[in-house]
Amino acid sequence: MKSIMIIYWSGTGNTQKMAVAVAEGAKIDDTEVKILTVDAAAQENVLKADGIALGCPAMGSEVLEESEMEPFVASLAGAKLAGKPLALFGSYDWGDGQWMRDWQECMETAGAKMVADGLIFHNTPDETGLAGCRELGKKLVAMVL
Ligand SMILES: Cc1cc2nc3c(=O)[nH]c(=O)nc-3n(C[C@H](O)[C@H](O)[C@H](O)COP(=O)(O)O)c2cc1C
Repeated sequence: MKSIMIIYWSGTGNTQKMAVAVAEGAKIDDTEVKILTVDAAAQENVLKADGIALGCPAMGSEVLEESEMEPFVASLAGAKLAGKPLALFGSYDWGDGQWMRDWQECMETAGAKMVADGLIFHNTPDETGLAGCRELGKKLVAMVL
């Protein structure tokens, strides 16, 4: 059985809604899907999974959330991500998605196999946004199988 691990940080619930929809999309026969907030996640969860999705909104000034998500992501750099199918997603408000472009570049440098460009959604995802998240989950599984 293939395993998908979804790890996210969300302050006001928008990225959490995206994470749940990514999980829905990834729930295809014979796939185990786990979803964790980053404070409950360990590197081991990532190393063991066949495919990973990471979610975080734009915070600070176009950066990842700095107390939990940024250190976790930094700890994954290097060989730990080499060749791993990876999906990134997150909500934003007033910016233009720079945090996601920077995050994706960092993960690509770390060797991750991006499933698609990082998926961003303005504020609370509507049904179209959630459908996009489900599609991302499906693409992640397709890259793993
Ligand atoms: C402290 C703080 C910093 C933020 N910085 C940015 C930013 O740099 N760019 C942006 O587009 N949105 C920024 N936002 C808006 C959030 O990304 C947006 O509200 C998002 O929907 C929050 O997602 P969440 O509900 O998953 O926490 C910021 C919000 C907060 C509270």
